[in-house]
Amino acid sequence: MTTLRTGPEAVYDVLGIGFGPSNLALSIAIEEHNNTSGDVITAGFLERQPQFGWHRGMLLDDATMQVSFPKDLVTMRNPASDFSFLCYLRERGRLVDFLNQKTLFPLRAEFHDYFEWAAARMRHLVEYSAEVLQIEPVRAEGGEIRWFDVTSRDPDDPGRTVVRRARNICVAVGLEPHLPPGTVLSDRVCHTSELIPRVAEMAGAPVRRALVLGAGQSAAEAVDYLHRVFADAEVCAVFAKYGYTPADDTPFANRIFDPEAVDVYYTSPPEVKQSLLEYHRSTNYSVVDSELIESLYATMYREQVHGRKRLRMMNVSRIRDVREQDGRLAVTVEYLPTGEHEVLDADLLVHATGYRSQDIGALLGETAKLCLRDDEDAIRVDRDHRVKVAPQVTAGIYLQGGTEHSHGLTSTLLSTTAIRAGEIRDSLLAQRSLTAN
Ligand SMILES: Cc1cc2nc3c(=O)[nH]c(=O)nc-3n(C[C@H](O)[C@H](O)[C@H](O)COP(=O)(O)OP(=O)(O)OC[C@H]3O[C@@H](n4cnc5c(N)ncnc54)[C@H](O)[C@@H]3O)c2cc1C
Ligand SMILES: NC(=O)c1ccc[n+]([C@@H]2O[C@H](COP(=O)([O-])OP(=O)(O)OC[C@H]3O[C@@H](n4cnc5c(N)ncnc54)[C@H](OP(=O)(O)O)[C@@H]3O)[C@@H](O)[C@H]2O)c1
Repeated sequence: MTTLRTGPEAVYDVLGIGFGPSNLALSIAIEEHNNTSGDVITAGFLERQPQFGWHRGMLLDDATMQVSFPKDLVTMRNPASDFSFLCYLRERGRLVDFLNQKTLFPLRAEFHDYFEWAAARMRHLVEYSAEVLQIEPVRAEGGEIRWFDVTSRDPDDPGRTVVRRARNICVAVGLEPHLPPGTVLSDRVCHTSELIPRVAEMAGAPVRRALVLGAGQSAAEAVDYLHRVFADAEVCAVFAKYGYTPADDTPFANRIFDPEAVDVYYTSPPEVKQSLLEYHRSTNYSVVDSELIESLYATMYREQVHGRKRLRMMNVSRIRDVREQDGRLAVTVEYLPTGEHEVLDADLLVHATGYRSQDIGALLGETAKLCLRDDEDAIRVDRDHRVKVAPQVTAGIYLQGGTEHSHGLTSTLLSTTAIRAGEIRDSLLAQRSLTAN
C-alpha cells in the first residue's frame, strides 16, 4: 500500500530513510511543530520492514532497557509531549502499576510496545515495505543540486520501484550485524539478531549443546535465554576475556550520554575524542549488566552444587573452526593460554559478536561523492547532524547514527534521540529560512 505521495509534484521537505526509533522521534518532533505553526514541514519516512519493529530478534521476554524511560522519544526535548512513555502507560492503564515497581528501566518488550504505539500514531507519514535502494542528486538550472530522488522498492515485489523527491533526506538506517571473518551462516549458525526466530524453528528438536560466542550484553542474554529454553542442553559461553565485564552505569560516567556531552565531544580535537571513546567504552561495548552477571554466576554455582552442570564458561578461548555435517556442528575451541583444542559437537552456534554502523556510502551512491570527508575518510558532519557537502549542493543530508566519530557514544543509542530529533527539525527550519532570504 502506498501511503506517501509520489510523482513530480510531490516534493518533500524531508524524506527519512529508515523508521526505527531515531526517525520515529524526528517524525514526532516535526508533527508537534506542524500542529502549532503555520511554517509546515512536509515529511515522509520509508521503512523496509512490513511494520514497525525494533530489534525483534532479541526481544527476550525478561530483558530490560539499558536506558532510563525518561530518555524516550520526546521527554528530554518536550516533557509536556503526549508521546511520552508515561502517557503511553496511562493509555495502557498501567501508570500506577509501573510506578510501584520503583524502576527506571522498563522491559524491552514494553518499550517495543511503546514504540509501536507511537509509530501507529505517525502511520500517515510512513511507507512500510519500502526499502531504499538509491539516492540520486537532482540539479536545478545553473547546476545547483537542490533535491534528491529517493528510489525504493517493496522487498516482496522487487521488480517495481518508486521514486520520491526531497529537499532533504535524513538517513537513520541503524546498525548491521557484525560477524567474524569467514563466518558461514546456516540453520545452525546465526547472529543474535536472529536469535528468537532461530530458536523457535528448533522447537521440538532435541538440542544437546548450544554455543554462544562473545562477552557483551547480547551474549550474556543469549546464554541465559538458551539455558532456559533448552532445559536439557549444555550451553557454552565462549569468549577471550577471563570473565564478563560489568557495564559502567555509575552516575558520573553516565554523563557521557548527556546532551551537553555531545557538544563537548563535537568540539574536542581528534585525540581527545579518541580518548573519551576509549575511557568510556565500558559504558556500552563488550559489557554486561551486573545483575545478569550475578545471576549467571549463581546459576553456574547452583549446578555445581547439584552435580548437573549445564552452563559452561569457556573463557580465554576462541573458536578456530566450524564444520557442519548432517545437521550437526563440530566446533573447535582453542583455550588460548595453552593452545589446546577441544572439538565440541553442537546443535546451535550463536554469534553475539555485536554490530557495526551500516556503510551508508553504498546507499548514497552518487550522492556519497558530494559528501566531504575528514583525514580518516569519515563523513564530515555539522553539529546539527547535517553532512558537510560540496558548494554546489543546497539539498541537505542529515545523519542519525553512524556519527560516533563526530558526535560521540550516544550516536547509536537512544539517550539523546529526543534532543537530536529537535535539533534536526530546527535545522530544517533554519536552512529553509536561509534559502528563502
Ligand atoms: C538488542 C539490542 C538492544 C538495544 N537496546 C538498547 C537500549 O536499551 N538502549 C539504548 O540506548 N540503545 C540500545 N540499543 C542500540 C540501538 O542502536 C538503538 O536502540 C536504536 O535501535 C537506534 O535507533 P535507529 O532508529 O537509529 O536504528 P534502528 O533501530 O536500527 O532502525 C533503523 C531502521 O532502518 C531500517 N532500514 C535500514 N536500511 C533501510 C533501507 N535501505 N531502506 C529503508 N529502511 C531501512 C531498518 O529496517 C530499521 O527499522 C540496542 C541495540 C540492540 C541490537
Ligand atoms: N537489553 C538490552 O537493552 C540490550 C540487549 C543486547 C544488546 N544491547 C545493546 O546492543 C549494543 C551491542 O551489544 P552486543 O553485546 O550485541 O555487542 P558488543 O557489546 O559489541 O559485544 C560484542 C562481543 O563480541 C566479541 N567479538 C566481536 N568480534 C569477535 C570475533 N571476531 N571473534 C570473537 N569475538 C568477537 C567482542 O569481543 P571483544 O570485546 O574481545 O572484541 C564482544 O565480547 C550495546 O549497546 C548493548 O547495550 C542492549
